[in-house]
Amino acid sequence: MDLRPVLSVLSTHQPTYLPACITVSLLHWTFWLLGAIGWSSPWSISTVCQRSDLLTVLDLDFDSTTSTMSALRTARYFHVKCRFPHEYRYKGPEGQIQRIVRQEVPAGQIAWDTPYDVYDPISFTAPHVLTAPWADPPIGQAGFHPRWNQRDGPVNRQSHEGVYLMSDQQAPLNIRGRTGLKGRGTLGRWGPNHAADPVVTRWHRDSDGQRRIHPDSQKPVLQFVAIQRRDTGEWATPGGMVDPGELVSETVKREFMEEAMDSTQATAQEKAANFEMVRDFFTRGQEIYAGYVDDPRNTDQAWMETVAFLFHDDTGSEVGQFELKAGDDAQALQWMDISSDLNLYASHINFIQKAAELQDAHW
Ligand code: BGC
Repeated sequence: MDLRPVLSVLSTHQPTYLPACITVSLLHWTFWLLGAIGWSSPWSISTVCQRSDLLTVLDLDFDSTTSTMSALRTARYFHVKCRFPHEYRYKGPEGQIQRIVRQEVPAGQIAWDTPYDVYDPISFTAPHVLTAPWADPPIGQAGFHPRWNQRDGPVNRQSHEGVYLMSDQQAPLNIRGRTGLKGRGTLGRWGPNHAADPVVTRWHRDSDGQRRIHPDSQKPVLQFVAIQRRDTGEWATPGGMVDPGELVSETVKREFMEEAMDSTQATAQEKAANFEMVRDFFTRGQEIYAGYVDDPRNTDQAWMETVAFLFHDDTGSEVGQFELKAGDDAQALQWMDISSDLNLYASHINFIQKAAELQDAHW
C-alpha cells in the first residue's frame, strides 16, 4: 500500500499529526516484515503505540492493524477539538457554563462514508442563535431557501474545502465528518461559517534593537499579536467573522483595528497620525491558509472556516512599534513569542507555524 497520498493530505490539513502518522506507518510495516520472516513478537503494534502515547496523539482504534490502516486512510478527517472532551461547552446569557453531551466519535468513524450504526447524536442550537438577526432560520422555515455550496446573495455558503454533502433532512453535513452533535450549537450559519484571521508579526528585539536569537535553533524569534478569547480564555489570533458581503481582506483589517489597535497605548492623535501607515500596512498581506478550522464549536451541521493572512513588520517601525495592553474590558492582548510550545485556540497554531516557517524564524 502506498502511503504517500495519505501523508501528503495529512501534512496539508493537520501538520501536527504527521510525525505520529509516519511513526505508526513505520511500526506497521516493521511488524508486518518481522511477521513475514517468522518472528513472533511478544508485543503487538497496539501495545507499542499505547505505551509510547501514540494512541493519545492519534486517537486510533488499535483492535487490529487493519483498523490502523483504515484510520490512517480517513485521517484527513481528524478534527479533535470538536470531539474532545465529549461535550459542547456553552456559555449561557448569564455567563453560566452549560455542558451539552457530544456522542463519542472514534477516529475510524469520523468519515460520513464509514458506517457507524449506533450514531445518533442529540441536536443542540443555543437559544440566542434561534432568535439572532445574524443567524439563519431553522431548516424548513417558510421563506428560507438557502443556496447550498454557492454564494447565496451576500452570504457565502461555499466551503474552502470543496463541495459538502447534505443530510436526509436537507441540512449540510460537516465537510470533515462526524462531531458527535447535531444542530448549530452557537454558530449562526448552517454549513460553513466564515472567519478571517490577521497574523501580525514582528521580530523580538532586545533593548539594543538587535533581533533576539533563540539559543536552541540559533534562529531569530518572531512575535505575533495574540488575544485572549473571552469564551474559552485561550490565546488566539485576533480574527473575527466575515460580515455578509464583506471582503475577507477588509475583515482582517477591521478585526485588527477593533481588537488590537484600539488597545494600543497610542493616543488618539498618534493614531490619527499613523492612520495612513496602518492602512498601507494592511494592504501587504499574504494569504497563508484558507480552509476548515478545528474549532470546539463545530457540529455535524455547522462549522468554522477561515482565511488567515500574514502581515509582517520587518523593521518594527510600522504596526510593530505599538505596545499592546489589556483593554478596559480586561481582554488581554500581547506580542507573544512564537515557538512550537504554544498552545492556542482551535487550530491557530498551524497559522503561526506557517508564519514562522515562511520567515525562517525560530519554531
Ligand atoms: C475567530 C477566528 C477563528 C475562527 C475559527 C472566530 O470566532 O474570531 O479567529 O479563526 O473563529 O476558529
